[in-house]
Amino acid sequence: MNHLKKNTYFLHFGLKKPVRILRLTDIHISLADDVDGDAMKEHAAHRRDVFFKEGGCPERDPVGYLEEAMEYSEEFDCTVITGDLLDFESHANRETAKEILAGRDYLFTPGSHEFCPKIGIPDTFAYKKKVWDEVQDVFRGNMLFESRIVGGVNVITMDNSFYIWTKEQFEMLKTEVARGYPIILFCHCPLHDSALSHKNPAKKLIPTEEEVESTITVNRYLAENPLIKTAFSGHYHGNGGEYLFGEKTGYFCAPLFKGIVNEIVID
Ligand SMILES: [Fe+2]
Ligand SMILES: [Fe+2]
Repeated sequence: MNHLKKNTYFLHFGLKKPVRILRLTDIHISLADDVDGDAMKEHAAHRRDVFFKEGGCPERDPVGYLEEAMEYSEEFDCTVITGDLLDFESHANRETAKEILAGRDYLFTPGSHEFCPKIGIPDTFAYKKKVWDEVQDVFRGNMLFESRIVGGVNVITMDNSFYIWTKEQFEMLKTEVARGYPIILFCHCPLHDSALSHKNPAKKLIPTEEEVESTITVNRYLAENPLIKTAFSGHYHGNGGEYLFGEKTGYFCAPLFKGIVNEIVID
């Protein structure tokens, strides 16, 4: 018996046989070791305390929940992790995640925290680019974009952790759409988040004009293309909710640091 609480989502695509997807998000593992040093150990302890309180004093810590969730994932047709698995970059976080994820099958798309050297240091595109390979080394697959056909559904992960969609991702998405399967998109930031619409230029994280343009183009495409059925995101740490993109319903889901996993049943 594990300690996980389950939120279940039902989707109806007219499949011959139901497909079950386990969706995990926002685990926020916060560890540091001797390699990271004493200052990082203090930082990590503070962050563990933050999530213990935000999680309402959960029974297990994020590491324990991730272990249980990955064990549980063996019962599903597909597992998707939508980022903020690591709260910040540290040797201990990377090594612990590698150990827990070793031998498991899953798709992964990052959150902004995967590219955060320490909480309080502002995100930058340059830093994300610098550490991309190091972060990718922790996880299987391709963090930028990945697709898998599961029981007649195209499960797609696409990175929008810094509120942009790139031209490269758009080309990959169109290639997947051409295969003709119904698509469920998984990404870190919910599609209705105002930062993703780039209407507010006052943000510190400033994309190029080309990136703003490709983001707006992809947002529109996601809302309008009939094969893209819905989107599941994390980032918000509440207990889950729905929003509209175009006339479609998207979902933001509860975080695993509270002990909650999201099960998606498609028939
Ligand atoms: Fe998060
Ligand atoms: Fe986030």
